This record gives sequence, C-alpha cells and structure tokens, in this order.
Amino acid sequence: MAMDVSGIDAIGRTAFAVAALRAAEHREAGGPFTDPYAEFFLEAAGMPLEPHPDGRDFAAVMRPQAVVRGRYFDDLLLSAAATGCGQVVLVASGMDSRPWRLAWPEGTVLFEVEQEPVLRFKDRVMGERQVQLACSRRPVGVDLRDDWAPALCEAGFRVDRPSVWLVEGLLYALDESASDRLLAGLSGLSAPGSVLAFDHFEVGPSLRAATDRISPGLTRLWKSGPADPAAWLHRHGWEPAVRELADVAASFGRTVHPAHMPGPQADGHSWLASATRTAAVAN
Ligand SMILES: C[S@@+](CC[C@H](N)C(=O)[O-])C[C@H]1O[C@@H](n2cnc3c(N)ncnc32)[C@H](O)[C@@H]1O
Repeated sequence: MAMDVSGIDAIGRTAFAVAALRAAEHREAGGPFTDPYAEFFLEAAGMPLEPHPDGRDFAAVMRPQAVVRGRYFDDLLLSAAATGCGQVVLVASGMDSRPWRLAWPEGTVLFEVEQEPVLRFKDRVMGERQVQLACSRRPVGVDLRDDWAPALCEAGFRVDRPSVWLVEGLLYALDESASDRLLAGLSGLSAPGSVLAFDHFEVGPSLRAATDRISPGLTRLWKSGPADPAAWLHRHGWEPAVRELADVAASFGRTVHPAHMPGPQADGHSWLASATRTAAVAN
C-alpha cells in the first residue's frame, strides 16, 4: 500500500516530479547520470513511473536539465568533499538520494535542510528498503523562510569549517528578495574556502505552457530568482564560475531543450553555477 503523503505540501511534491525525471533517465542506461533510488520514492508514494500524457511536455523540457545538473553536481560535490569541504549541505534536498548514492570520502558529514514531512517520508522509504548510507547524514527539518541556521548548528554544523552547499531545483521558485535572504543566510555560515553550487534559469513560454498542461497551480510556483547569478554571487562575497547549461550538456554528449538556450529562437539562459567563498564578508 502507498504511504500517506498528504502531509507534503504542493512545493514539497515538486520533489516527486524531479524524482520521476531521474527515474526515467535511470531506466535508459548509458547516460551521464543514474539514480537507482528515484523510483523507490515514486513507488512508495504510489506515483506512476511513466509520465501522464499531460506531463510529457514538462519531461521533454526538464529531463535534460535535471540529468545534466545531476551529473555536474555529483562531480562538483565529490570533488569539494575530497578537497577540504567535509561538511555537505543539501538545501531543499527533496528526493535527492546523494547521501546513499555517492561514494563520499570517509568522514563526510552531510546535512539535508528540508521540510520535515519530506525528510520523514525519505527516512521511512530508505529505512524500509534497507539502503545503506554512504556518509554521516543529518536531516534538519526546517522552513527555509524562517531562521534555519540555529537548527543546522544544533545538528552539528561548524561555521569555522569549510562546507559545500548545494541549492538544486529551488531558485526559480523564489522571488529575488527570497533568494537574496537565502544566500545571505548561507553565506554567513560559510567559512573561507567553502563552495556553493546551484542551477537557475529564466522561466520562459515553453516551460510555462508545459506546466500549465499539468496544472496552472504548478506554473504559479515559478518566480524569478536572481537576474544575474554571477553579479549576485559577487555581491555576497563569492568568487563565481557560471556556465550555460547547454555548454555543460555538450561536455556530457547531451543537448538541452530550447527552453534552456539563450538566443532569439529560444526561451532564455539556463545556468549551472559554482562559487568559492574567498573571505568572510558582511552580507
Ligand atoms: C523541485 S524540489 C527540488 C528538490 C531537490 N533539490 C532536487 O533537485 O531533487 C524543491 C524542494 O524545495 C523544498 N522547499 C521549497 N520551499 C521550502 C521551504 N520554504 N523550506 C524548506 N524546503 C523547501 C521542497 O520541499 C522541495 O523538496
């Protein structure tokens, strides 16, 4: 019988949509990214593995983005963890299976900062499936709109040690000031040498049409996020390295949907960003 997911709100349920994209990629072996656990979450929630016909346009727009960012962040997180960032923070982790899936260096402590009902659901699924953790995982159940730093520190996060932060699949659901508050908060917790990574894109007409087909409520979740990721990172004391999604995709032998391409025939920029904290600065 499916688990009760009624405690997971609309924004929390978007995590299942990402899991569905990952599960679809996993079933077609040979791509740059694979996630054997994504379908565990869908099955536990009683959700279909195949997209509903109304969701096919969404999958066409978002699956290449999810796959390319997934692989890019896997590599980046493992590299940062191996070179001094022993604390990993997955912000709004959703159905991210990285605590179980990646071969973390010994001693890695990984924090998942997410809504409590989402974390409870994940714990139960992975517990029932008896999947072994690959790091020391600390779930931190919070609402990111509140002051979440004390809960993270209570879970053992050390502000005097470098960390690597991942903000994946979130910024386009925040307005500019909410993204600013989030970055200010995590910057204040980031010792010099810390690393930050995120994906972001300009939500254009193809994506709006695709989510409208699923539900206009889903389209209303799209906001703007930061307009210029590199300038935004600079302002908050980070040294940015921002790449177009299409360029990273090409390095993995993939192409992206035109919704994620800049230029007159396409919808707009889609970025993968990483940044290094050079010095502690006031936000
Ligand atoms: C599209 S999902 C992305 C999840 C994951 N990072 C991934 O890429 O698979 C967005 C996630 O953000 C979380 N989220 C959104 N607003 C939040 C808030 N105010 N506090 C905590 N989590 C939040 C949701 O619960 C959801 O799991």
